[in-house]
Amino acid sequence: SFVLEVIILFLSSCCRLWGDHGQEALESAHVCVITATATGTEVLKNLVLPGIGSFTIVDGNQVTGEDVGNSFFLQRSNIGQNRAQCTTELLQELNNDVFGNFVEENPDKLLDNDPSFFCRFNVVIATQLPESTLLRLADVLWNYNIPLLICRTYGLIGYMRIVIKEHPVVESHPDNALDDLRLDSPFPELREHVQSYDLENMEKKEHSHIPWIVIVSQYLEKWCNENNGQIPKNYKEKEAFREMIRQGILKNENGILEDEENFEEAIKNVNTAVIATKVPNCIEEIFSDDRCINLSQQTPPFWILARAVKEFVGKEGQGNLPVRGTIPDMIADSSKFIKLQNIYRDKAKKDADAVANYAAKLLQSVGKAPESISQKELKLLCSNSAFLRVVRCRSLSEEYGLNTSNKDEITSHMDNPDSEMVLYLMLRAVDRFFKHNGRYPGVYNYQVEDDIGKLKSCLNSFLQEYGLPVTVKDDYVHEFCRYGAAEPHTIAAFLGGAAAQEVVKIVTRQFVIFNNTYIYNGMSQTSATFKL
Ligand SMILES: *[C@@H]1O[C@H](CO)[C@@H](O)[C@H](O)[C@H]1NC(C)=O
Ligand SMILES: *[C@@H]1O[C@H](CO)[C@@H](O)[C@H](O)[C@H]1NC(C)=O
Ligand SMILES: *[C@@H]1O[C@H](CO)[C@@H](O)[C@H](O)[C@H]1NC(C)=O
Repeated sequence: SFVLEVIILFLSSCCRLWGDHGQEALESAHVCVITATATGTEVLKNLVLPGIGSFTIVDGNQVTGEDVGNSFFLQRSNIGQNRAQCTTELLQELNNDVFGNFVEENPDKLLDNDPSFFCRFNVVIATQLPESTLLRLADVLWNYNIPLLICRTYGLIGYMRIVIKEHPVVESHPDNALDDLRLDSPFPELREHVQSYDLENMEKKEHSHIPWIVIVSQYLEKWCNENNGQIPKNYKEKEAFREMIRQGILKNENGILEDEENFEEAIKNVNTAVIATKVPNCIEEIFSDDRCINLSQQTPPFWILARAVKEFVGKEGQGNLPVRGTIPDMIADSSKFIKLQNIYRDKAKKDADAVANYAAKLLQSVGKAPESISQKELKLLCSNSAFLRVVRCRSLSEEYGLNTSNKDEITSHMDNPDSEMVLYLMLRAVDRFFKHNGRYPGVYNYQVEDDIGKLKSCLNSFLQEYGLPVTVKDDYVHEFCRYGAAEPHTIAAFLGGAAAQEVVKIVTRQFVIFNNTYIYNGMSQTSATFKL
């Protein structure tokens, strides 16, 4: 069927993005979605299709006519039925491998009676909840150390907030990462291999099949010998170095340069391959993090491994991270390419083995079994050791605390009165309106005019209470009243896609999550992230 084909296409493209191990992590994850609103169902749809392990919907409401209007899943015949159950059944039909559950309960009741209910989940996704419920939920999850993703569609505005204490990422998949070739400081095996090539005395065919890494490496050694051991650094030196390589291209009997593509490739790669190998600053920061220094039995594997890499860098690594072990494709005959590839691979394995020794000692020192970290996990971390990231988001109560709210972030962005930050302030104002009136502004047409004044005073008292010296244009107050807290399907669908992506990042521990607030403006189709 068409749906099935789409799902299969979607699945195969997902695996390319996050790999088999990422897919495994996704398939063993259990997420909770609080309230089966249009936003909640859109998030879930985008998790059910790529094959999340299981989901539980918490919702005590019945399907209303408005739900049928917003949510493409629900039909008129569902009106009056339990919303959690209806939505679970409909979502389940999208993918039989996913296990769907529902709990017919109001989230506030669950928080009153059974807060530990939430402990079983890898992520909790809260959609369209009032502020008071959200603050309670966020507190409970923070204490249990369960990641929370808050999603909200409010008129033409999308809002997301990630609340997670600490989120280490091994596979951050950076864009445009440079290869780890160590040409400035070749390890002995690489140096020996490069020197085994006698460039001056080679047949024409052989000469044009030398991998460019070997060419650059040989000429670099020559360059360094002539330049006090310094690699070419600025444009002028690099240009001179490229010319040096160009001189090595073979000439025919008439003195015309031969067509040697491998040399052209060598010249082209000088800029990105001839660089100083060093530990990136953000990795140095991880090495000096308290969690990396002070290990205990409770320390997660990520930090034990980071510490093991740190020890490696200080000793065998002579100041460098473990070799990544991969090289780019290049012009070369296959036997030469494979030999070179194996040099890097073998070195990466040797370095990983050395890291494994440190990890074993560290595990022993905190009283944990050596098997508590798998070889696979260790290798993955070693080959990604230049890309490790740790994201720490502030708690919701810090964000909402009068003394702890991030005033600088708010005021600095409000230098631009149309920054997406103004939408955040308006959301805080409508929440205050809700607290005072038990409903959102503009939900009844006949009250819109009245509500504009009330919302404005909510906004002003909020700004005053938090000591925020900013002005908000009246247009925004009017706009938010016009929204009448509606949840249009288009905005919910957009937000659902974006939210599911963050859930996948959290669950697979791949790619970097945002820190910590994301706002989408559906009027201008712009978005921004803020540290609140
Ligand atoms: C090290 O961690 C333990 C528990 O994880 C903590 O009790 C102790 O205070 C920490 N020590 C230092 C110096 O940070
Ligand atoms: C995230 O944001 C907080 C402030 O909200 C900041 O302290 C922290 O350094 C940021 N970065 C990371 C990577 O966690
Ligand atoms: C906030 O700070 C003020 C003074 O700096 C203090 O008097 C007040 O108790 C603090 N409030 C909270 C909730 O911590």
